[in-house]
Amino acid sequence: MVEPEEFVPEAIEEIKQQMGAEGRAVMALSGGVDSSVCAALAYEAVGERVVPVYVDTGLMRKGETAAVEEAFGTMESLRVVDARQRFLDALDDVVDPEEKRKVIGEEFMRVFEQEARDADARYCIQGTIYPDRIESEGGIKSHHNVGGLPDVLDFDEIIEPVRELYKDEVREVARYLDLPEEISERMPFPGPGLAVRVIGEVTEDKLHAAREATAIVEEELEEGGYDPWQALAAVVGKGTGVKGDNRVHGWIVAVRAVESRDGMTAQAIDVDWQTLQSIQSRVTGTLPDVARVVYDVTHKPPATIEYE
Ligand code: XMP
Repeated sequence: MVEPEEFVPEAIEEIKQQMGAEGRAVMALSGGVDSSVCAALAYEAVGERVVPVYVDTGLMRKGETAAVEEAFGTMESLRVVDARQRFLDALDDVVDPEEKRKVIGEEFMRVFEQEARDADARYCIQGTIYPDRIESEGGIKSHHNVGGLPDVLDFDEIIEPVRELYKDEVREVARYLDLPEEISERMPFPGPGLAVRVIGEVTEDKLHAAREATAIVEEELEEGGYDPWQALAAVVGKGTGVKGDNRVHGWIVAVRAVESRDGMTAQAIDVDWQTLQSIQSRVTGTLPDVARVVYDVTHKPPATIEYE
């Protein structure tokens, strides 16, 4: 287990050394704990020489953009890019999960590349953590935040301050750095975002359902006294339902809540009936396009945590 009081000064020193006396670094800020810790460490190390770039892909969690602006708005170098339409266009007609990851990764890189050029950055800081590297190297799936960047952009150096840490260790560091609880305790969220929580084609209405339902799942689980490692809602298909006096052909939303240490294996949580019913009634009640809600009881393996 990491010792934050040792890790933090070492990481800051390492960033200082890697960046030398001059030159800016860009870093992709997602609002998650990994990139937030990196931003805080980099800011401690080199101040405004780090340019955090937050790309609003339209695939983010509910309220994520506002939360990032709130948490990091004091950093004058922060860049917030609205790329929502761009990502929707790029994902038009893309249905294969790995293809989605590739398209999102490429699109993200293009936006990021432009920002890096604008910032005249020589360095790139990434919030890659240990399990990201293992899963990518093992060929399980192409995590979009790993690899790729160095080929496209001619950075002097790629800096990965938390590359040796597991998620729970990153949280320890976040607490030590006094980052807000919404960040240090925030559940993991995949790089490709809600695109891997809608099966098949990515459309605005499916994203809306997955986004709103995921927020409801998080709130209701907390209300019910649960503190899962990760919880989510995914749009998994269409089914028939009855709303008011009408038969409807609406979305099927799958709810998932798991315990895990590092996401490599996971156990589905035994959520009580009342909590599940609260989730169901809020999701179907507030989202007119959702016809039914199901709970996923599958561990990992054999299932993955995300749906794609
Ligand atoms: P799976 O679905 O593979 O997820 O069981 C394990 C953990 O990784 C997250 N995840 C991703 N993170 N890029 C990421 O940065 C990705 O492509 C990706 N796919 C899954 C997932 O949310 C879970 O925490």
